[in-house]
Amino acid sequence: MDRKEPRLGTVQETLLIPLYARAVENRKEHALLRDARAEEIVASIDYDFGRFDNLPSLTGALLRTLLFDRWVTEFLSQHPDATVVEIGTGLNTRHERVDNGRARWFELDLPDVIALRRNFFTDSPRRTMIAASVTDAAWAAEVASHDATGPHLFVAEAVLPYLREPDVRGVIDLIADRFPGALLALDTAGPGFFDTQEQHDALSKVEARMHWYCPDPAQLADWRPGARVLASHTLTSLPEDLVARLPLPYQQMVSAIAAQRLPQAEGYRLNLLRLP
Ligand SMILES: C[S@@+](CC[C@H](N)C(=O)[O-])C[C@H]1O[C@@H](n2cnc3c(N)ncnc32)[C@H](O)[C@@H]1O
Repeated sequence: MDRKEPRLGTVQETLLIPLYARAVENRKEHALLRDARAEEIVASIDYDFGRFDNLPSLTGALLRTLLFDRWVTEFLSQHPDATVVEIGTGLNTRHERVDNGRARWFELDLPDVIALRRNFFTDSPRRTMIAASVTDAAWAAEVASHDATGPHLFVAEAVLPYLREPDVRGVIDLIADRFPGALLALDTAGPGFFDTQEQHDALSKVEARMHWYCPDPAQLADWRPGARVLASHTLTSLPEDLVARLPLPYQQMVSAIAAQRLPQAEGYRLNLLRLP
């Protein structure tokens, strides 16, 4: 097979980590999620994925994806014709996993990522890729110009910690100004996680580093008066009913890590924010 060599910038390369996590998981008998598409994509990309083999954080990435998937599913069950915007979509397959056949989707990432993504995904009347930086206000105008029905859920999975704080604030202001009342799902890197990233099993295998240190997601509500943190979980304090549905070995692993109260696990949070 003619495999594609990804020509990706430094932060863009990080998309290959959750992609590989989903691909490897797909081969397991008792899997956290199924993603045959990720497996096909990995097979057709010319990259040394072996560097990520057996890294514990791949499981963390999958648990994060499960929670973000659930937030999208819950949102669409309440608002079936709403709009979902994947910020920093990478080669994620969330649309394949949780689309309801009615919602409007936008998938935004930097131009080199969207160029790669176009090899594997195509636009449709309900699905539009946008090549832009999330820090560039033009993407929000493009989403608005498509006459997409609200309400809006913005999903930034493993994206914003790579930006600098003023840029994160700019993104939150941009979404709040343009799409009042929107939901934003995002992860935050705080003490124990942010300061140990040089030793992080997967990040230490690539050049990209996180720049936005967020000790407490409650700070997000202070940035934008009227914003509310609706949910905030660590990977070891996921919603109980989500954990109850995991294959048993994963349930046991999550509770074993929770018991250790590892700073790396405690300092990384998955948050759902309601903007004013
Ligand atoms: C760790 S990957 C996560 C990819 C995807 N969300 C997932 O979970 O599979 C980080 C992604 O954020 C994207 N990203 C980083 N900075 C960005 C920016 N300024 N604008 C848009 N996307 C950005 C990268 O290109 C990359 O695809």
